[in-house]
Amino acid sequence: MTSSPVQHVYDDSDLITQEVLKRYEDTPDPRLRELMQSFIRHMHSFVREVKLTPDEWLAAMNLLQETGKWCGPGRNEFIIFSDAMGISMLTITQDYQRPAGATEPTLIGPFMLENAPQFEMGTDISAGAQGSPMFAHGRVLDQAGQPVAHAVLDVWHSDDRGLYDVQEDLETKGPWARAQLRTGADGRYSFWSVLPVDYPVPHDGTAVTMLRATTGRNWRPAHLHFRIQAEGQKPLVTHIFDRQSKYLDEDAVFGVRPSLIGDFVRHEAGQAPDGRAMTQPFYTLDYDFVMVPPKA
Ligand SMILES: [Fe+2]
Repeated sequence: MTSSPVQHVYDDSDLITQEVLKRYEDTPDPRLRELMQSFIRHMHSFVREVKLTPDEWLAAMNLLQETGKWCGPGRNEFIIFSDAMGISMLTITQDYQRPAGATEPTLIGPFMLENAPQFEMGTDISAGAQGSPMFAHGRVLDQAGQPVAHAVLDVWHSDDRGLYDVQEDLETKGPWARAQLRTGADGRYSFWSVLPVDYPVPHDGTAVTMLRATTGRNWRPAHLHFRIQAEGQKPLVTHIFDRQSKYLDEDAVFGVRPSLIGDFVRHEAGQAPDGRAMTQPFYTLDYDFVMVPPKA
């Protein structure tokens, strides 16, 4: 009688882990090999630690499938899961020790769109978004305090319902409260839009279901998103948060940093900083960004 060449015995759960890790030894790219083997080791430990049942495993697979259905241009539901479990902020925090004075990065969030509409500096980017008028301005500086010319700023934020353009029909309504601006030689930026407000994690996806069943905290403090890119500088992805928000200490996605809290100052009708005559109350934000060179 010939014995089968297959010798695997999985009664002892350690054996399957060893066999799987051995198989992934063949991964040609060393970094991918490291990532995969470590991930497998940790996932196997997790399954053992919690004694994951086949039903729980299937529920997780179904959740991933359902989560994929909530992804499309301008919305990545998986990013909300990563954000809500602190993984996004952990990668950002350990990526680069920023020098003192440099603007801190924070997570990019699920609603970033490439190729945002371009606007002239100082113009209104709201494109029909509803809310209180807001004028944001400041400078983009380098580490030496010099203006960064030709910096490209992507800005995106919610309206006064707490919604982003991508949560509506982007095809028919087009983008709003979303822009790309370019600084001149003085490094200054400015734009009009509407005041962002606190908003909940999207109520229609899978991440919010997880949050409701766990932390119960599914709100984000009001903020503007920025991505700033300039030659010779490390790209900066960050938010500026509204100091008035009651959710600064319980951001659903752990993105708040004290240095990123700004003052959205309310003004009665009158002249705005850019000389515009306002017939209704408006808000201003004055915030400077400090970029740093890329990692050596
Ligand atoms: Fe946001």
